[in-house]
Amino acid sequence: MTDELQTETDEVRVIYDPIADTPTSYKREPEGAHPPMDYEGYKSTALRHPKQPLIYLPQTVTEITGPQLGPVLIGENDNDLTVQHEGEPIGERIVVSGRVFDTEGKPLRGTLVEIWQANSAGRYKHRWDRWPAPLDPNFSGAGRCVTDDEGRYTFTTIKPGPYPWGNHYNAWRPAHIHFSLLGRAFAQRLVTQMYFPGDPFFPYDPIFNSVRDLRGRERMVSSFSIHDTVPNWAHAYEWDIYLRGPGATPFEEAH
Ligand SMILES: [Fe+2]
Repeated sequence: MTDELQTETDEVRVIYDPIADTPTSYKREPEGAHPPMDYEGYKSTALRHPKQPLIYLPQTVTEITGPQLGPVLIGENDNDLTVQHEGEPIGERIVVSGRVFDTEGKPLRGTLVEIWQANSAGRYKHRWDRWPAPLDPNFSGAGRCVTDDEGRYTFTTIKPGPYPWGNHYNAWRPAHIHFSLLGRAFAQRLVTQMYFPGDPFFPYDPIFNSVRDLRGRERMVSSFSIHDTVPNWAHAYEWDIYLRGPGATPFEEAH
């Protein structure tokens, strides 16, 4: 694959221009934009949140630049979690797609999107996940892709199941897919969870409800998309993601 790419183009593909596309700073996000680091209902936050007020450091080149992604980073099956093993995983096959924007509405191309999730029975392939739900030998639950020129990402996967997590009596997580996005700058990194519409566990989940703003919670819930559904193959969910935008951009966008 690598050789073909290099033979065809004879040069490394440039996803974006790191100088022209790099603003000089990123806006500080307002208080309450994200869930509190210490949230009473989410027990383990009591032990891991900072005990002192945060000290804001000036943004330097480390924060305003991002990972330089080459053309060989992404493997052929990295965004299709249903073809990473010999057999097919069990469960509802789904397509999850959407676009990545910054807060000014500009699509972010060349953004690394990584996901991880439980299998259809709600179990992770992880040594600490020991609850009595079956592992699926044909499902690892991890994928990644890079957004295209319109900022679009697409994954084919299996709909994850809910799972118990011991936070309180009869605690179950709503079905979710974990997302990590790096954007064009490390200051844009976002780690979040995507949920499915109408999940009956929403009212009982302290992680979902730690986002106190109702509209913020709604932005974590994907939409069923008949448009993206593949007939006789997979149903689909759509979910757009907004990363922090630049505070000052030294160059106008090229037209
Ligand atoms: Fe999870």
